Amino acid sequence: VRSLALIGIGAGDPNHLTLHAIEEICRTDVVFTADKGERARDLAAARDEVLRRSGAPSTLRVVNVVDPERDRGSGAYAEAVEDWRMRRADAFERAIVAELGESQRGAILVWGDPSLYDSMIAVADDIRARGNVALELTVVPGISSVQALAAAHRIALNRVGRPVHITPARLLEDGLPDGADDVVVMLDSGCTFERITEPGVEIYWGAYLGTAYELLVSGPLDEVAAEVRETRERARKERGWIMDTYLLRRRLR
Ligand SMILES: C[S@@+](CC[C@H](N)C(=O)[O-])C[C@H]1O[C@@H](n2cnc3c(N)ncnc32)[C@H](O)[C@@H]1O
Repeated sequence: VRSLALIGIGAGDPNHLTLHAIEEICRTDVVFTADKGERARDLAAARDEVLRRSGAPSTLRVVNVVDPERDRGSGAYAEAVEDWRMRRADAFERAIVAELGESQRGAILVWGDPSLYDSMIAVADDIRARGNVALELTVVPGISSVQALAAAHRIALNRVGRPVHITPARLLEDGLPDGADDVVVMLDSGCTFERITEPGVEIYWGAYLGTAYELLVSGPLDEVAAEVRETRERARKERGWIMDTYLLRRRLR
């Protein structure tokens, strides 16, 4: 039976690779990648560094899977994501059948942790459910960008005995949710923090976390929002892409 490991490789710093990830990479015959867009060059460099630092054998093959585009124009978000996932499953299934021998080990390196806002677990489940190819699935946890953010700012995500809320930015258009005082925001294509107008909120912002070009800004949101926007826009222009995550923290009364 072919096996497939979804390996969390951390948010960008090869030092965040776990021993489990390294062990799994070293047992892998074929790594499937799906780099695209402006980030492709930086991601390929980061992946090569991960393979080098893991001591991956020279026999390991890297196969690039042409990743289908997601329909970002359509208003129906859930349907568009579902359709994209199915097309990704088609592409990865074809690549696995063509490139991985019957008893070989394949792997997909996942940015951060596979359990957090990543579709590869769902894609692998789809492939298995179709039944065209038998796959033994392993998921190796990684350090997510959320943990990298907290460590970089030297903060805890939660306050004593309190919850942490993790959300995509598009759900913050109307402000912070009631009762959520520590909110981690991911997948922000703009500067959604500017929608938060209530007083007494702190921001801990990080971009390209774990990389040599990591950027950090923190402070009262009303005082540093403009600095975050400027830093973000300048960096995006310079590198051609940006990935950022931040914690919004309400001052407790
Ligand atoms: C598709 S999700 C993947 C999350 C990933 N599985 C994780 O555990 O961090 C992509 C989002 O994660 C965040 N992200 C991932 N890597 C990051 C990094 N190195 N620095 C800052 N944010 C990052 C950004 O919010 C980005 O929009």
